[in-house]
Amino acid sequence: MLILPETPDDHDAIFALTQAAFKDHPHSLQTEGHITDALREAGALTLSLVARVDGRIAGHIAFSPVQISDGSAHWYGLGPVAVLPGMQGRGIGAALIREGLDRLKAMGAAGCVVMGEPAYYTRFGFAQMPALTYPGVPPAYFMAQVFTHPAQGRVAYHKGFEAAA
Ligand SMILES: CC(C)(COP(=O)(O)OP(=O)(O)OC[C@H]1O[C@@H](n2cnc3c(N)ncnc32)[C@H](O)[C@@H]1OP(=O)(O)O)[C@@H](O)C(=O)NCCC(=O)NCCS
Repeated sequence: MLILPETPDDHDAIFALTQAAFKDHPHSLQTEGHITDALREAGALTLSLVARVDGRIAGHIAFSPVQISDGSAHWYGLGPVAVLPGMQGRGIGAALIREGLDRLKAMGAAGCVVMGEPAYYTRFGFAQMPALTYPGVPPAYFMAQVFTHPAQGRVAYHKGFEAAA
C-alpha cells in the first residue's frame, strides 16, 4: 500500500469511493463526496491523502481547518475518511489516519478534532475533550487531540461541510 497526497487525476476516484463507502452508513446524508469537492474548491482541503493498493485508489482521507470560538489557530478536522467497501477492515483506514496525523503535525498543526465512533478513533490518540464542544452531537462522538496548543470553546467545521448532494 502507498499513501500519497492526491493529484488532480485522483479527484473522480476519490468522489466515487467516498460515495460508495458512505452509501449504507446509518448517519450519512450521502454528501461526503461533495464535501471533499467543496473543500477542495474553497482551498480548504489542507491535506488530502489517497491509499493506493495495486495501483488502484482504495482509500482517502481529508483534513480541513476548523474554527474554535476562543480564536485558536491551526486546528484541523479529520474527515471524511473512506475506504472502498470491498477493501475495508484491512488496515487501510488506520494507515491513512496515522499518516494524516503525522503529516498534520509536521505542518505545524496545533491539534485535530474528529467526529465518529469512539471505539475506532481512540486508537489514534483521540479522546473526548470537555473543553471542546460541538453542538448537536453526543459528546462521546466528538473527540480531539492536542499536538502543540490546547484550545477551548465551540468548534465549527468549514462551510464545505454544508455541501449538498
Ligand atoms: C471507517 C473506515 C474508514 C475504516 O477503514 P478500514 O480500512 O475499514 O479500517 P481498519 O482496517 O483500519 O480498521 C478496522 C478496525 O476498525 C474497526 N472499525 C472500522 N470502522 C469502525 C466504526 N465505524 N466503528 C467502530 N469500529 C470500526 C473494525 O471493526 C476493525 O476492528 P478490529 O481491528 O478490532 O478488527 C471504513 O470502514 C469506511 O470507509 N467506512 C465507511 C465510511 C465511514 O464510516 N467513515 C468514517 C465516518 S466517521
